[in-house]
Amino acid sequence: MADTRTEIEKRRTFAIISHPDAGKTTLTEKLLLYGGAIALAGSVKGKKAQRHAVSDWMEIEKQRGISVTSSVMQFNYDGYCINILDTPGHEDFSEDTYRTLMAADSAVMVLDASKGVERQTRKLFKVCTLRHIPIFTFINKMDRDARDPFDLMEEIENLLGIRTCPMNWPIGSGKEFKGVYDRASKKILVFHANSDTVFEQKEVKATVVSLDDPATEELIGKDFAEHLRDDVELLDGAGDALDMEAVRAGKLSPVFFGSALTNFGVEPFLKEFLRMTTPPLPRESDAGIIDPFSPDFSAFVFKIQANMNKAHRDRIAFIRICSGKFEKGMEVYHVQGGRKVKLAQPQHLMAQDREIIDEAYAGDIIGLFDPGIYSIGDTLCGASKPFKFGGIPTFAPEHFCRVEQVDTMKRKQFVKGMTQIAQEGAIQIFHEPDSGMEEVIVGVVGVLQFDVLEYRLRNEYNVEIRRSPLPFEEIRWVKDTGLDLKKLDLTSDTKLVQDVRGHYLLLFCSNWSINWALEHNEGLVLEEFSQE
Ligand code: G4P
Repeated sequence: MADTRTEIEKRRTFAIISHPDAGKTTLTEKLLLYGGAIALAGSVKGKKAQRHAVSDWMEIEKQRGISVTSSVMQFNYDGYCINILDTPGHEDFSEDTYRTLMAADSAVMVLDASKGVERQTRKLFKVCTLRHIPIFTFINKMDRDARDPFDLMEEIENLLGIRTCPMNWPIGSGKEFKGVYDRASKKILVFHANSDTVFEQKEVKATVVSLDDPATEELIGKDFAEHLRDDVELLDGAGDALDMEAVRAGKLSPVFFGSALTNFGVEPFLKEFLRMTTPPLPRESDAGIIDPFSPDFSAFVFKIQANMNKAHRDRIAFIRICSGKFEKGMEVYHVQGGRKVKLAQPQHLMAQDREIIDEAYAGDIIGLFDPGIYSIGDTLCGASKPFKFGGIPTFAPEHFCRVEQVDTMKRKQFVKGMTQIAQEGAIQIFHEPDSGMEEVIVGVVGVLQFDVLEYRLRNEYNVEIRRSPLPFEEIRWVKDTGLDLKKLDLTSDTKLVQDVRGHYLLLFCSNWSINWALEHNEGLVLEEFSQE
């Protein structure tokens, strides 16, 4: 029987974040290849594959050709057991994308070398910083024309507020891409492109002092060698040193340049990343910090997915194991439910395939059949003294619409459907202060969720709805500081609402209106996340 400590120590659980098209899917596929999971590489939902993807749970996925679900991929490499959490990277991503980051111990941020830090990267990055997890940067597509690497470093530091430490340094880009210089080994990894875009890589020994070694100049050219020497001097003199403590605290991001499509720089990245990133991290609970190596099993629910199997109308609760070992059929305490549950049919969810598993360890993600008892943020524990993990924040929705039912006779179903879907965390619902469900404002993180809502209400609750878009773009939770909210001085396009828990929020059409509200109302405190 595997030793629990050894098993946990080799776990590396991370998420890959990027703006759509930066190369997240391509990089994931290449990582799977190194793990020998070649057959699985095709099941990563790349855009081309997505067009043909047959979803087993929702027509809407087929119609739109995109994936609404996020899953986990597990594979072994170099003595590690790797769990890659797939965060849907499509423009229409949802709150699940954010929540998935709550289950990761580190994140890999993929940037397109010609674009740098893009909008969605910023949003995802913000969530990573909430948790202070290590963030590694892979600057992709060096085989295409790229921006100046120093500019890219500066942009990451300025826009994201994290320091950077390049682990390697690119030599040219696009047609002139010559390879990367590895700062630790002082070797150049030379990039060879041939006509049918099949690339090979070859290592040539070179040291900083001998960058003008004739072999190096022959391979990358005199001008590039000189340029590289200057860059390296600058980096060694002025750049941040690799401070592992700062990396682990999420304050310094090790940066790697490469090209996922041509498989250049991917394996060195994987090796270094695995060496630097951490095994499962301790988590905070109301009984103090929970050590992942503690023999007692504990986990929390970070995502609930409904109706994956049409025939059963089941829900799957995804749990992240935080400590100890899980065994099939074990009985654990569901803290929020206040009772014992038997974990009978645990599943690994590997892309679209599901597989029943017998055991899993801290760091792993498993899916549990949910007869409707779990909520996001719930804790499961095997210890004799139950405890609760800290809650998962509610993320600010960015799109809003007013929703009403077409047939007013179906009010009961409408309220039930809206409430249940909101409980799963797929949408957030708001209403005018002190009113019921007469007028419901729905907020979502990704616009696709509106379609999901309409589809599910029609198919599961037999309710047709009418949607009218609302112009709000920003939402803030109002911290209770004793202010009389009815007397707030606000721009005419700002709206005060309440969420299902009775908390007050303000909906704004622009950042300008947020500033107005803050400037004109002394004592008003607004928050971007609601921690519940
Ligand atoms: P995503 O998951 O982050 O959305 O990105 P994905 O991997 O799907 O990559 C987006 C496009 O960029 C793909 O082109 C992919 O082949 C390309 N790409 C990824 N990495 C590299 C790289 O290192 N170099 C180059 N030159 N291209 C790269 P595609 O499938 O043709 O999609 P599209 O261009 O039709 O959207």
